[in-house]
Amino acid sequence: MAEVVLASTQHWQVADLQAAADYLHALPATPAPPVAAADRCADCHGADGRGAAGAYPPLAGNPTVTQRGVGNLLQLLKHGGFGPSTAGHPRPYGMPPADLPVADTAAVLTYIRQSWGQRAPGVTALDVQRGR
Ligand code: HEC
Repeated sequence: MAEVVLASTQHWQVADLQAAADYLHALPATPAPPVAAADRCADCHGADGRGAAGAYPPLAGNPTVTQRGVGNLLQLLKHGGFGPSTAGHPRPYGMPPADLPVADTAAVLTYIRQSWGQRAPGVTALDVQRGR
């Protein structure tokens, strides 16, 4: 950084500063993480939470989603999941791990537990940190 100041930024004029500010303002804003994360879930499970028959389980009306402790849900998000391979369904679809920050994990789980008419208690950052 010292080299940058020495060789460059100490010589900047007002116009240079303005140009740098314009550049930074023009960068696209980062979308809010919980929404982006939930969008990712919706790719498979559907915005309506109904999933896709034979491929992705529904999250709406699913007791796994609304169960009391959230330990199972946290494990699933962290490690992803695969159903068993069977003769009738030799290559089951998998769920990729979603390695989200604590706050986003809490927001996404609260979202799926309280959408589509579901009324399970929300999930706090503390729940996520405690893993249950
Ligand atoms: C690429 C597709 C895909 C994405 C993206 C995805 N899932 Fe899944 N999800 C699956 C599949 C497939 C299963 C079934 C896995 C299994 O049987 O172990 C599953 C299972 C689940 C289950 C357990 C359902 C049950 O009845 O056991 C929950 C809850 C869940 N997903 C939530 C989420 C959330 C929340 C996200 C977003 C962070 C997400 N999923 C993203 C494909 C996906």
